[in-house]
Amino acid sequence: MIGWRARRLSAAALVLLLLSACRGAAPSAPPAAPAFVPVSAEDQLSAMHRGMNVLDEDPLWDDPAAALFQPRHFARLRDAGFDTVRINLHPFVHSDASGQIDPTWLATLDGLVKAALDDGLTVILDEHDDSLCERDVAACGPRLRAVWEQLAGRYRHAPNRLLFEILNEPHDRLTAAVWNDMLRDLLATVRATNPQRNVVIGPAGWNAVDQLKTLDLPADDPHIIVTVHYYRPVRFTHQGARWVAETANLSGITWGTDAEMAQLVKDFDAVRAWADAQHRPMLLGEFGAYDKADMASRVRYISAVARVAEAHGFPWAYWQFDSDFTAYDIRRDDWVRPILQALVPP
Ligand code: BGC
Repeated sequence: MIGWRARRLSAAALVLLLLSACRGAAPSAPPAAPAFVPVSAEDQLSAMHRGMNVLDEDPLWDDPAAALFQPRHFARLRDAGFDTVRINLHPFVHSDASGQIDPTWLATLDGLVKAALDDGLTVILDEHDDSLCERDVAACGPRLRAVWEQLAGRYRHAPNRLLFEILNEPHDRLTAAVWNDMLRDLLATVRATNPQRNVVIGPAGWNAVDQLKTLDLPADDPHIIVTVHYYRPVRFTHQGARWVAETANLSGITWGTDAEMAQLVKDFDAVRAWADAQHRPMLLGEFGAYDKADMASRVRYISAVARVAEAHGFPWAYWQFDSDFTAYDIRRDDWVRPILQALVPP
């Protein structure tokens, strides 16, 4: 009897507890911050499918009050079917002569990283300062090291959905030989505080697919995801782009012949073969077509590259959310629907 009463009482207490918890009356401790849990590069990659390059040129880096991109855009991306963002960073112009990064810039980044992770996205911190490195390796090397000492240290306890990409599109003076040395140095800097976080690294020569053969990675580090960028043929994807001398004056170039499609598949077959031979997971970190091409060709191209990448097992990140190659009209605050539908078919 007594046992039954005790059980009945404890059942009643349980009901009361549940009711008060439902009303929010029971005090509860906030969930502990998720500690870093190592994940293999392969498993990390298999949780990534569709990504977006964000924030490259947003005014918020100079003045948070002038932000075009708002934290709610991460949810907008997620709800549209994206699971990854590659945040394009330019810390050099926000660092002092000794390499110390401006605390306001770091606080802005903290807020963005937290918002994106809270929305369930995988976040790649992409060091996008390749333009100093293209002309002055001696100046750029120590500055990159200083950046990674600070960023890697700052985010060492962040969840494993935060990845570091040590440098976007190394090129010119950063020849393959120079880059293969420098990437070891930068990786060692990251590894001092993040021995098992996955790091994204691409080949010299602008991360181009045909440069993979020049990439030499430390064989004893399994926590590397390799990245390539795809803009072939550049005369189509960069027609009218003022920053590419050979294509700045081109216009009216369309894309989508059988031969062009076959070339795309052939290029990605070669990337797959390299990745398999080297046992490295592969991310297509940038691709896209500049706004000056006709919309029908852009849609054909973007959807073809995305589908061919998916068929080869490569998650991808489109270049870029807003500003140019535009997927999202940030002033109208809505998607450029044909581009979104090319990326994420309805
Ligand atoms: C560069 C951008 C450029 C894009 C396409 C990126 O990696 O940083 O400036 O618009 O590639 O050319």
